[in-house]
Amino acid sequence: MGSESKMSKRAYITTPIYYVNAEPHLGHAYTTIVADVLNRYYSIMGYETFFLTGTDEHGDKIVRAAQAAGEDTKAYVDRISELFRRLWPHLEISNNDFIRTTEERHIKVVQEILQKVYDSGDIYFSEYEGLYCFGCERFYTQRELVDGRCPDHKLPPEPVKESNYFFKMSKYQDWLISHIEKNPEFIRPERYKNEVLSFLKEPLEDLCISRPKTRLTWGIPLPFDDRYVTYVWFDALINYISALGYPHKDTFKEFWPVAQHFIAKDILKPHGVYWPCMLRSIGIEPYRHLNVHGYWNVNEGKMSKSLGNVIRPLELVGKYGLDAFRYFLLREMVFGLDSEFTEEAMVGRINSDLANDLGNLVSRSLTMCQRYLGSEQPRKGDRESLDQELLDSVLELMDTYPSLMESLQFHRALIQIWELINKVNKYIDTTAPWTLAKQSKERLNTVLYHITLTLKALSVFLWPFMPGSAEKIQEMLGLDIRGKDFGLEQLKEKLEEVPRGKIMAPIALFPRVEPIKKEARGKEEERIEEIDITEFQRIDLRIGRVVSVEEIPRSNKLLKLVIDIGELRDVVAGIKGHYEPAQLINKQVLVVANLKAIKLMGVSSKGMVLAVEDKGKLRLLVPEGEVSPGAKVR
Ligand code: MSP
Repeated sequence: MGSESKMSKRAYITTPIYYVNAEPHLGHAYTTIVADVLNRYYSIMGYETFFLTGTDEHGDKIVRAAQAAGEDTKAYVDRISELFRRLWPHLEISNNDFIRTTEERHIKVVQEILQKVYDSGDIYFSEYEGLYCFGCERFYTQRELVDGRCPDHKLPPEPVKESNYFFKMSKYQDWLISHIEKNPEFIRPERYKNEVLSFLKEPLEDLCISRPKTRLTWGIPLPFDDRYVTYVWFDALINYISALGYPHKDTFKEFWPVAQHFIAKDILKPHGVYWPCMLRSIGIEPYRHLNVHGYWNVNEGKMSKSLGNVIRPLELVGKYGLDAFRYFLLREMVFGLDSEFTEEAMVGRINSDLANDLGNLVSRSLTMCQRYLGSEQPRKGDRESLDQELLDSVLELMDTYPSLMESLQFHRALIQIWELINKVNKYIDTTAPWTLAKQSKERLNTVLYHITLTLKALSVFLWPFMPGSAEKIQEMLGLDIRGKDFGLEQLKEKLEEVPRGKIMAPIALFPRVEPIKKEARGKEEERIEEIDITEFQRIDLRIGRVVSVEEIPRSNKLLKLVIDIGELRDVVAGIKGHYEPAQLINKQVLVVANLKAIKLMGVSSKGMVLAVEDKGKLRLLVPEGEVSPGAKVR
């Protein structure tokens, strides 16, 4: 095999390394699953693959998250990183490695690269005055702000003046534009390529790549000036090569030329602009593809920790099963566009696509095999035109499947797989094996043979999406090679071969689930869960009176209140912006008095003030008349 064809038989797939300031949610799960699907696809196409994920652990954002949790930074990053690492096996993610930016192997490479780029003259020292958003950990230019505020954090950035190191990104602007134009698949789908090109129409500014230790110590020290640490993006992006053992390891040499990154559109700029320029400066070829997807929204807003609308993957997996979860995400989202997540839609798909279409097909097919032939494999016999049509549909999908998968049209691949599922279901209805069983054993065998042949092909197409269920189908069909070992090549070879093993009685793959009734949902809340009176009585609700109010530095939501509930209580409340502090003094409020104490933004809080949200505005719940502080609510 020549080196070109050898190279084309490898794939390197990455996910973003996730910040450890939040626990893993549906958004992280989606990117990791979609990357896993492509990785598994390549492995059944006979590619040698390397699949990387990990965690991004430096920077101000992380330090603040650790403080808010009242934990030591190192202990905190260890704990959250572990949550990510432990989640992936539950989602059957087939990653080969898990990188953390606090690992020595990563730090070493970041420092080597900084030194190399510095020595080449692409890093310079300069004084800078700019508008800095602490949430994003970056400077903003005026034209990037929306009404003078950071578009993400909705806060005005603060003027910061300091001397820093800069990477000469502007030097690579023309090269980058021409590289993107010459390689139309470099950033895909096309809308994101266009977004980057349109951004590159304006002159590119150099990238500030350091942070003074006076402001931040939780980072990788610059090798040429230890008064500074590295800017988190310059550190983080390098994970994609440090994990491969850049510069010397074979893994780097073998897999880097075929790198594909998966990200969502929030981090398009660092990946579509900073990273290729950095690679060019280091003297490394750019990655092959940047695959950019849209957002999962919940109630029409991006799902994120800061908006408090996160969906926990394991809760859905526990409730509906892993393969149902993986299937839904891949079927529902058109890669590149936003999708709305609702549990109703998920349950709808489980019942129709999985329980009805696929589940029924497998179970009725194997039941017929068992009933009419015992566990013997059906024999081929003479092929009639109906059988040929079914076989042609299988062959057609074997042809189109690779291009759909490689162009990231996962939902279309699934639509076509389901068209084949519907065809077999129709074929069964038309050929009516239950009648054939009484008329012609010969014809019955031929029909059952074509059904099981199609199931065999389906199991291969489905494996990247739902490995567990696909392998169960393969096992029930009596196939001796399964999963990763049963790829498209093997399918071509063995398509018409009768498997050696016995056919098994079907086990249910996708049980139906109770549909979620629309009426059971509040306007924007999740399902209302019933509790009994004793559960309600455990909550100690009291009337309080606000005695004093304090701002919490850097928080745009929280205020610290001291409330008299018969005793004085510190309570942190997320009502900033909805009330002026002065308006709150002496106000009567409703307080949950027996809530466990927690720390929010470093301030401890014992209790919770109740408010109602309407059209984005918060209003405190207050008693109708004058009530003594500490009076109990019944
Ligand atoms: N640490 C950086 C990435 C550095 S990569 C060198 C980071 N981390 S993050 O934890 O914020 O993860 C962002 C990524 O999580 C998105 O690009 C996307 O992959 C995933 N998602 C987070 N929320 C999401 C949605 N609501 N919808 C879809 N994907 C989302 O940025």
